[in-house]
Amino acid sequence: MRTLLDKLEREHRLSKAEFASLLRARDPDLEREAARRADAVRRRCYGADVYIRGLIEFTNCCRNDCLYCGIRRSNAHVERYRLTEEQILSCCREGHMLGYRTFVLQGGEDPKWGPERIADLVRTIRTDWPDCAVTLSVGEHSRAVYQLWFDAGAERYLLRHETADDAHYRTLHPPEMSPEHRKKCLWDLKDIGYQVGAGFMVGSPGQTEEQLAEDLCFLYELQPDMVGIGPFIPHHDTPFRDRPRGSLEQTLFLLSLIRLMLPTVLLPATTALGTIHPQGRELGIRAGANVCMPNLSPTAVREKYALYDDKICTGDESAQCRQCLAARMASAGYQVVVGRGDRAGRQERAPCPHPAPLRPAHRDPSDYKNI
Ligand code: 5AD
Ligand code: FES
Repeated sequence: MRTLLDKLEREHRLSKAEFASLLRARDPDLEREAARRADAVRRRCYGADVYIRGLIEFTNCCRNDCLYCGIRRSNAHVERYRLTEEQILSCCREGHMLGYRTFVLQGGEDPKWGPERIADLVRTIRTDWPDCAVTLSVGEHSRAVYQLWFDAGAERYLLRHETADDAHYRTLHPPEMSPEHRKKCLWDLKDIGYQVGAGFMVGSPGQTEEQLAEDLCFLYELQPDMVGIGPFIPHHDTPFRDRPRGSLEQTLFLLSLIRLMLPTVLLPATTALGTIHPQGRELGIRAGANVCMPNLSPTAVREKYALYDDKICTGDESAQCRQCLAARMASAGYQVVVGRGDRAGRQERAPCPHPAPLRPAHRDPSDYKNI
């Protein structure tokens, strides 16, 4: 198995069968070794820096009905909310004071937040905080709409592919959603020029190691700038309420494999990972992740954005999360930095950064200020 890790580190790709055999091994020594190598690669690309993104969950209204998701349309128990423009801008203002230089606007596919309204919001944020990046994460839309938002100043887009296996995709989603359309959206976003984030849940109901291997092969093909993965966690008001959550070990192992496959990728240690283990995010960073996305949403609405049960940080103020995270990262031997946190040496197809150390070329030394 170690020879497969050697090969992945050297060539940055494996066949689906090779990835599947690594994933089936479930060998703690192998997982430790993968994490050690992944951490060395991330340190060559990013040092000990951890980038933070301020997550603003601005609407939990959603026209979709994904079977795993707590804010799915058919969950009548959710108290729906939409933040106003003023509320969102005040999150940004607070976030900027706390050192965030990326705002992630995440929401359901909410018809009341139409394309023009989102474009106006993006324009306002980019005008008011020109030193900040805006990331959108609002689901599937037409190419024209993605172009509108890009032209308004959104540079990054997060859209998890959820699973690259068509049959598995159909078991997780209602019939009106299709894996082809999801993938088309990702290719459109990339073609427009966005820094694109894809990703998937680990341990989603019925998922096999082969399907996860397919996810890794898809990521290789897509060459995204960001990859968001986290364990599946059941939500009590969904059809998957009784299904087991995804495992910590498998999620960490996948983070390490993704770091070895895409050395300069931006890889968050997700809130879901922090939810299944008290030190989940620190462990994620040590396994190769280099981004955290603390919550900037007003405390009053945080509990209502429950994609899964027991989500962490729902009662904490933004400032608390910011400090807490800085302390957590420091305790794990890393440092939260102030800066936009763009991908190291961003290029269409990132070349292998080894063996020369590669630092983000454009960063100002003040970006390294540890607050
Ligand atoms: N458990 C873990 N992750 C989930 N997501 C949605 N529902 C769940 C759940 N029950 C993830 C999906 C989605 C992202 C916003 O959150 O991958 O793309
Ligand atoms: Fe939110 Fe720790 S990151 S309280």
